[in-house]
Amino acid sequence: MGIYYTGKKIWITGATSGIGEALALEFAKLNTVLILSGRRQEELDRVALLCKQLGSVAYTIPFDLSDAAEIEKAANNVLADYKRIDILVNNGGISQRSLVIDTPIEIDRKVMEIDFFSGVILTKKVLPEMVKAGFGHIIVISSITGVFGFPLRSAYAAAKHAMHGFYETLWAELHEKGINVTIVCPGRVNTNVSLNAITETGAAHAIMDHDINKGISPQKCATIIIKAVQKRKKIVYIAGKEMLMVYFKRYIPWIFYKLVSKVKPS
Ligand SMILES: NC(=O)c1ccc[n+]([C@@H]2O[C@H](COP(=O)([O-])OP(=O)(O)OC[C@H]3O[C@@H](n4cnc5c(N)ncnc54)[C@H](OP(=O)(O)O)[C@@H]3O)[C@@H](O)[C@H]2O)c1
Repeated sequence: MGIYYTGKKIWITGATSGIGEALALEFAKLNTVLILSGRRQEELDRVALLCKQLGSVAYTIPFDLSDAAEIEKAANNVLADYKRIDILVNNGGISQRSLVIDTPIEIDRKVMEIDFFSGVILTKKVLPEMVKAGFGHIIVISSITGVFGFPLRSAYAAAKHAMHGFYETLWAELHEKGINVTIVCPGRVNTNVSLNAITETGAAHAIMDHDINKGISPQKCATIIIKAVQKRKKIVYIAGKEMLMVYFKRYIPWIFYKLVSKVKPS
């Protein structure tokens, strides 16, 4: 499995926990050069040390995905230091737990900035060198909520849906120049995502959702992603029974609408 990744410079956002950390650790076993980002430097240092122990080179660059100026600066620094990124993983993000009617537009914008625009900025920064080199792979961590709406997650679902439109278009425009795109749609993965989700006030939801707690491990999710990327899959769903909602929406939409209408937002 390693050949696709050996020696590749891989930049992962959201590498301080959950799926991003698990991806860093799995990539670290494959002789890669890792650039790890998140806001918390001490967590980046912890993950970088683990990556080095697994045999890869790992650098850290902290920045806030909600701040476009910080993202630009970080990308300029990364490109100055490493010239070219081979694989960009747009993973860092936050979820949401609030009703549309209660959610001020500032919260919608914040979720869109972190979950959608940050990745767009980074992608546009790394693309020119990728195109020059004739190779690049953009991995985008969407969600099954990127293909259907779900109560309490309006901005989150919007950001994830937006990813599909943007990155599918990117692939259509640039695949002939060696640019690959893999959109990953996890269902439930046992991470801090529900604890870190924001409510209508912007405060953390701070509740471990029962379903997330019962989700697959981030390690399993990362392993599936790494295999799918190597096969240059354009889209990959990583879900258990929640995958039924995807199938219903696609093939028997009336069942999807019936089921989603019965979800009790709480
Ligand atoms: N877990 C699931 O069930 C699930 C399902 C579908 C999709 N996803 C997606 O998977 C991705 C990773 O989430 P996770 O489940 O691993 O959750 P997580 O454990 O909460 O990790 C989120 C990561 O994003 C980073 N992040 C959040 N806000 C940031 C900001 N403003 N600036 C920079 N970094 C920020 C965090 O780093 P810092 O705190 O250090 O900044 C952290 O490393 C997200 O895009 C999420 O939407 C998760």
